Amino acid sequence: MKTAIITGASAGLGQELARQSAQLFPEVEEYWLIARREDKLQETAALLPGKRIRLLPLDLCEPDSFSRLKQCLAEEKPEVALLINNAGCGFLNLVGEGPLAESTRVIDLNLRALTAVSHLCLPYMQRGGRIVNLSSIASFCPTPRMTVYSASKFYVSAFSRGLHEELRPRGITVTAVCSGPMDTEFIALGRIKGQSPMFDLLPFCEPKQVAKGALLAARRGRPVYTPKFFYKLYRLLAKLLPQALMVKFART
Ligand SMILES: NC(=O)c1ccc[n+]([C@@H]2O[C@H](COP(=O)([O-])OP(=O)(O)OC[C@H]3O[C@@H](n4cnc5c(N)ncnc54)[C@H](OP(=O)(O)O)[C@@H]3O)[C@@H](O)[C@H]2O)c1
Repeated sequence: MKTAIITGASAGLGQELARQSAQLFPEVEEYWLIARREDKLQETAALLPGKRIRLLPLDLCEPDSFSRLKQCLAEEKPEVALLINNAGCGFLNLVGEGPLAESTRVIDLNLRALTAVSHLCLPYMQRGGRIVNLSSIASFCPTPRMTVYSASKFYVSAFSRGLHEELRPRGITVTAVCSGPMDTEFIALGRIKGQSPMFDLLPFCEPKQVAKGALLAARRGRPVYTPKFFYKLYRLLAKLLPQALMVKFART
């Protein structure tokens, strides 16, 4: 059975990606929804009428969650047609001043979980399969005051590009989604709102539009999707200008 596996499906962009993938990937019959809050996953499930749903209330910062996912995959043997690695977190703080647990959580979720979930799902993917990885505009240039988050998203973009190439012979594509800020729980959880003059100046992206653009880019097999002209320009500038200069302006 063609299956979509979506991490961070309980809120924000993940919920929107789940909802819209039912329209843009109509061949997907079953959804595996992963996040910690089961009640919120139920809300997402309600947005997917007519689809088979499996809720996996897992904390992806806990390595046990990978064993659980591995076991479910081995039991069900789904055809993973769409994998969306969306769960992520980030905190506004200075390295060495903010809580250590926040920095390690960013690494556990944004790097380790994304890598592990991809690793576990790949044996169940066939030609035409699509992987969508949530990166960020923070992957274009190191972002002081969100240094750990920014570095984690460099990893996501580099991992996605490398994997896209690695999977070319198998006909599976990987799309890194580099969104600008979105007004989701992420902003409050990261203590960003009102704390960063730069962040407050940036144009916000709409989760609905980001989800649609991301899924269409994935459908077409594009390796990167960046919403909004402003951020496309930022991506270009970050490629052209010296990083030593760009980093001065990227401070959040
Ligand atoms: N919002 C932005 O400004 C922005 C900008 C660029 C990129 N992004 C990226 O976009 C992605 C989605 O962000 P969002 O804005 O939608 O954030 P969000 O509203 O905070 O949602 C994050 C999702 O991840 C899940 N999650 C968090 N910790 C988890 C854990 N330990 N185990 C399993 N699931 C976990 C959350 O569910 P539970 O709490 O139920 O576990 C939630 O479903 C992230 O990768 C983020 O880095 C966000």
